Amino acid sequence: MSIRDFAERLQCPKHSIPLEVPAELLDSGVPWPGGELTCPSGCVFPIVGGIPRFTQREHYANAFGLQWRRYQRTQLDSYTGHPISRVRLERCLGMPLSGLSDKSVLECGAGAGRFTEWLADAAGTLVSLDLSDAVDANLKNCAGKKPYLLLQADIRHMPVPKRAFDVVMCLGVLQHTPSPEESVASLAEYVKPGGTLVIDHYVKRPVFSSAGQYLSMGFPVREVLKRLAPETGLRATIALSAICDPIRKRTSRIPALDLLVSRLLPTACYYKAFPELADDIVREWNELDTHDGLTDWYKHRRSPAEIDAIVRSVGLETVYCARGGNGVEARGRRPGSASASSGT
Ligand SMILES: C[S@@+](CC[C@H](N)C(=O)[O-])C[C@H]1O[C@@H](n2cnc3c(N)ncnc32)[C@H](O)[C@@H]1O
Ligand SMILES: [Zn+2]
Repeated sequence: MSIRDFAERLQCPKHSIPLEVPAELLDSGVPWPGGELTCPSGCVFPIVGGIPRFTQREHYANAFGLQWRRYQRTQLDSYTGHPISRVRLERCLGMPLSGLSDKSVLECGAGAGRFTEWLADAAGTLVSLDLSDAVDANLKNCAGKKPYLLLQADIRHMPVPKRAFDVVMCLGVLQHTPSPEESVASLAEYVKPGGTLVIDHYVKRPVFSSAGQYLSMGFPVREVLKRLAPETGLRATIALSAICDPIRKRTSRIPALDLLVSRLLPTACYYKAFPELADDIVREWNELDTHDGLTDWYKHRRSPAEIDAIVRSVGLETVYCARGGNGVEARGRRPGSASASSGT
């Protein structure tokens, strides 16, 4: 299906009926000129900054919106010069990006676009969305690519047709939603017969280490920071990172000491994980991830067995489910063949 097919079939997330989309917008990807999309039942969805908006201004992911606008390019491969996001994306997909050339892809929780920048060029058709105004950063990063549709929308109420996508992907997101189980159930609805759901999730730690997290400084600090206004929370994590990063940089060279210091200093540290990156890029990445880890409203964890069960409970066959990347990575396939798709 083309961009036009998906633009024509945008639907009201509340009433599930087709929206009236101006004809001149159908063939071009975003940015769309201003205006609005209307639903025959009276809902109005404005197009702001080139992007159709389907969400309220206030929601639990506001801090993410600010984060991705501040660190707009930090994690992009086109910025770091290393294919860190591409490697993760291909591993989660279970195939090279070239395998997407004739596929329709729905990317959910796209953030600033570390995966979007690859998907836009690789996919036959790409629709990306995010709950927060991270979409503004995403558009800035990816507008020059192959045309794609970008929406500010909630994965639990998506304004796109069901059972219409070859690939629905959601990386780095589910643990931050109110209920990962409900989010997966919603995502699965959009996978066409024969299509694939690609997800990952933070993993449950062994009981001993999971009890240990409550003894580390990160636990109380996050309980305070996540309740602050997003701008205040961001200022705090920048200050924390400025103080702690030079110490963590030094101690990261000594594993036993690093373990102890990681309990005392609640900041992220990737000097050892990404030796290929220049120090100033790692420092920026640490600052970003310190904010990410200390201001997220929801932070769920699931075991590989739980993720496997969730995927199967929504009518998909688990193709793959194992520890990896940020925790657990999984793929589920909807039984049937693509020709059986209804796309309603
Ligand atoms: C940690 S970021 C990951 C972004 C991107 N996938 C990446 O890996 O860089 C989580 C993203 O999920 C988005 N998000 C959280 N809940 C969502 C929901 N219900 N619907 C859509 N996006 C959501 C947030 O706004 C945020 O941009
Ligand atoms: Zn409506």
